Amino acid sequence: MTQLDKGRIVGAAPAGAADRDSAARAVREMFTSIAPRYDLLNHVLSFNVDRLWWWRTARRFDAILRRPGARVLDICCGTGDMALALRRRAASADVKILGADFSHAMLQLAATKSNRARAGKGSGSVGGPQPGQAPALHWIEADALRLPFPDAHFDLVTSAFGFRNLADYDAGLREIARVLRPGGDCGILDFGEPRGLFGQVYRIYFKKILPKIGTLLSGVHGPYAYLPASVERFPSPDEMMSRMKQAGFAAASWTPYTFGIAGLYWGTTAGRNIPPRI
Ligand SMILES: C[S@@+](CC[C@H](N)C(=O)[O-])C[C@H]1O[C@@H](n2cnc3c(N)ncnc32)[C@H](O)[C@@H]1O
Repeated sequence: MTQLDKGRIVGAAPAGAADRDSAARAVREMFTSIAPRYDLLNHVLSFNVDRLWWWRTARRFDAILRRPGARVLDICCGTGDMALALRRRAASADVKILGADFSHAMLQLAATKSNRARAGKGSGSVGGPQPGQAPALHWIEADALRLPFPDAHFDLVTSAFGFRNLADYDAGLREIARVLRPGGDCGILDFGEPRGLFGQVYRIYFKKILPKIGTLLSGVHGPYAYLPASVERFPSPDEMMSRMKQAGFAAASWTPYTFGIAGLYWGTTAGRNIPPRI
């Protein structure tokens, strides 16, 4: 975790970032620079387990995805895999799923991928609604700290491996809580730090080997050294859950995935017993 000097904001701080704005700018430039190789690197570096994590996260929200007219927002959507996993589990075409990111290059890749999947050319239609009956995905260029949506608009907000990159975690949580309707759910999937002997071995891979492979395959220096550093700085599960409650969530939990390499933060805003939107 990093305390940025100005205003003691807790959030991601790539090398050289001096305040919240420069941190956000550096993060956007970093992801834009690796966008063309981002998917390949994700799958290679995670040994394809990333697909399992997106699927498990989407499955956690089946109840919402089966609600007619449910509104879903995936922030820091990158090239769209979390939003695509959500779409695969959506019960009908009138579930509205939006992906938001502040990197235009990432969104362009997301749009291409989702169009292919909807036409049945990719893996996007497997196990979900038939191609053509799946909800359309919409992509929007937006900063997760200043979402262009009214209060209480969404039934579900998710983020996969993106929240950790926000320059101000508390502001990010407050913004998610603001756009969620009462009784709405939030799911934040992100990396964790596994413990014990497995954790020790994993850390050698994550801190020493992964940055080298990432730099080699992407051809860009920086982002794959930033990754383990950002995970190390991220609040512990207990601290994150307490921050979620401070930000307005009525309840919060954390479920480790794959020995804690990743994990899902779940939160709900108050007032859970509300009827589905008709
Ligand atoms: C590690 S990628 C995750 C992408 C995708 N969700 C996935 O699971 O592969 C992080 C993404 O978060 C985006 N991001 C980081 N900070 C953001 C912010 N403040 N607002 C919007 N997007 C942001 C980056 O542009 C990048 O596309």
